[in-house]
Amino acid sequence: MNGTARVSLGEIALNVYDHGGETSSRPPILLVHGFPLDHTMWQAQLDVYSPTHRVIAPDLRGFGNSTVTDGVVSMRQMADDLNALLEALEVKQSVVLCGLSMGGYVAFEFLRHYAPRVRALILCDTRSAADTPEAAANRHKTAAVALSHGALPVAEGMLPKLIAPASLTGKPHVVEALNRMMRATDPRGMAAALRGMAARADSTPLLASSRVPTLVIVGEHDAITSVAEMQQMAAGFPDARFVKIPDAGHMAPMENPTAVNAAMGEFLGKI
Ligand code: MLT
Repeated sequence: MNGTARVSLGEIALNVYDHGGETSSRPPILLVHGFPLDHTMWQAQLDVYSPTHRVIAPDLRGFGNSTVTDGVVSMRQMADDLNALLEALEVKQSVVLCGLSMGGYVAFEFLRHYAPRVRALILCDTRSAADTPEAAANRHKTAAVALSHGALPVAEGMLPKLIAPASLTGKPHVVEALNRMMRATDPRGMAAALRGMAARADSTPLLASSRVPTLVIVGEHDAITSVAEMQQMAAGFPDARFVKIPDAGHMAPMENPTAVNAAMGEFLGKI
């Protein structure tokens, strides 16, 4: 497949961008989006890496054009979905697994359960720690807001936290893309993922035993996962490179794609 299609995984279907498979001997790149977004947050990376790598970018369960399931969708469930997707797409090589924020939480679960499938890790604007009790309680409140009032109040509350103040005023294309994705998200998908994030395990013990090259990227103005926290996480890996992205907040791959693509390109060139 060269493009975007819904791939059936039995009970659900995931909408997935899959491009560049037939020519490349390099490891495929699997891009996992954040909350409450979809695979198009990676557009600048799809454009740059599809000519040289097989690039696979799904909408996670509950997001974009993928199936929505009610209740709780755990990070483990999302990781299982990704494994089923790689099987359905007949991906035999191990992948460069790249996740942003919630996508990073899913990446840790994937590493925990499917380590042989991971060739390298790219962790953008995320954290290995579990939620504090306060953070988990806030997620349950946000889930209730989504279910009672829809996606809009959640989207409006999140936007100023997702990007740097200068991006909010100076990068209208980023604001427009984020609003489009967030407002289109099914509130049931939002609520289920929020509950899943609230219940996620602490992945910090995984870092020291990780055997794959890792790139840790953070926007210098990230208000959700701070530079200091991500620097500390990078130091916990035996083999991680840490890159701070200027002029960007939590959505570094969208806010400063040139710098993120340069960091990714350098990393990919060495593995
Ligand atoms: C995300 O960008 O995926 C969210 O900020 C994750 C979170 O709320 O922890």
